[in-house]
Amino acid sequence: MKERFQSLLSQIRSEGEEQPLIQLAERVCQLLYRQVEGYDWVGVYMLEDDQLHLRAWAGDAATEHTVIDLGEGICGLAAREKRTVNVPDVGEDDRYLACFTSTRSELVVPIMKDDEVYGEIDIDSDKADNFDREDEAFVNSIADVLADKAETEAAKSR
Ligand code: SME
Repeated sequence: MKERFQSLLSQIRSEGEEQPLIQLAERVCQLLYRQVEGYDWVGVYMLEDDQLHLRAWAGDAATEHTVIDLGEGICGLAAREKRTVNVPDVGEDDRYLACFTSTRSELVVPIMKDDEVYGEIDIDSDKADNFDREDEAFVNSIADVLADKAETEAAKSR
């Protein structure tokens, strides 16, 4: 993994030890949006009652899609199929739910552990084909940090 990604990941892991899930999700959005070129909007949706609810985000503008059904969009697809979805050209994908006219590519990574999906990280880029395998690995590692936290909090509230 790129050095830049390694150092952001270490930072998120160490800050995460102290923070509750939603605070950590906010921090993740801020850090990725501010520190990674091409990550032009970053959001964390959490899966609650079979819908994805936007719980943290960073970017120039708010999205109208604050609640997304599992049957909708790239976000719904990633949660439903429990896999990373990397769309190099959103204009070519019929499943895409448009948020910003500037968006050209999108990466959605589930926050999941032991086959249970807790939510997902959604990143929009104004650049076409912005995300490669290194981005996927990086964002998956961040999703793992959030998944550990989500699992711990879910266990506590049971
Ligand atoms: N484009 C997403 C919707 C969320 S916005 O990008 C913030 C989708 O197709 O599910």
